[in-house]
Formats: sequence, C-alpha cells, structure tokens
Amino acid sequence: MNQEKHKLIAYKTLLPQINSLLEGENDIVANMANVAAALKSSFDFFWVGFYRFDGQELVLGPFQGPIACTRIHPSRGVCGKAFRDQKSIVVPNVHAFDDHIACSPLSKSEIVVPIVKDNNVMMLLDVDSDKDNDFTEVDKEYLELIAKQIATLL
Ligand code: SME
Repeated sequence: MNQEKHKLIAYKTLLPQINSLLEGENDIVANMANVAAALKSSFDFFWVGFYRFDGQELVLGPFQGPIACTRIHPSRGVCGKAFRDQKSIVVPNVHAFDDHIACSPLSKSEIVVPIVKDNNVMMLLDVDSDKDNDFTEVDKEYLELIAKQIATLL
C-alpha cells in the first residue's frame, strides 16, 4: 500500500477518536493537548502543536515535540501568513519559504491550519516534518476537519 493510502486510513481512524476525545470536554487547553498527542502518536510528525492569538501575538500552546518559539508576531513566519490570510499553508520546503521561522534546524516541511471562529483566527494548528515535502492534500483536508471540530468548542 502506498504512503498516501496509509495516511488516509490513519486520518480516517483518528478522526472519530478525536471527536470522542473532544466530546463532553470543554476545557480548550486539555483538548488542544490531547489533539496534539493524538496526531503526534498517529503519524511520524516531528512537531505538532498550537499557537493561540492573544490579541497581539501568536503564543505557543499545547504541543508535542521539541521546544519551540514561544511568541510569533502575526507579521512573521509561516504561522503569521496563515493567520493573516485565514488560510491553510502547506510549505513543501521550509528553506524555500522566505520568512520561515526555524524553531528547529531539523524541520523540513510544514503545514499550518487556522482555527477560525466568527471570521477571526483564534489559534493555529502547526505541524512540522523532518522530511521534505511531507504534507499533501490529504493532510490539509483532515487537519482542516480537526481544526473545524476544535473551532466548535470555542
Ligand atoms: N515555522 C513556524 C514557527 C513555528 S514552529 O515551526 C513550531 C513559522 O515559520 O511560523
């Protein structure tokens, strides 16, 4: 079976698990923590975590993986671009993205998905890979579904 098919099956298995994890729990920090853990343990991702907009900056939230930048200005980085555009960004090669903020030299590709409520980006789901070009439309589709699910709790 090819890698893409594996990924699809993994997301299809994970989605109902995440839904039941979130169901009945309204503490957003606990939910973000469990979603980061569920994604990190289901896939071979290097880093999975959240940045929360505090009204001025994107502040690190629950994550799994090595330590990361604590605060990102919305004018900066892949995170800032996803925040400003209110749109997911897939970066196949972080070194080719002008304003990429390297929290780790090991990160090679990245996807950032905004979590939007009432037309405002409340937080971002950020996933880094230590492999080139690791994120596809499948990741985008399913991470956006997870982001939507989280948005319903805000
Ligand atoms: N690479 C991100 C910074 C966050 S870390 O990847 C965890 C960026 O350019 O915004």
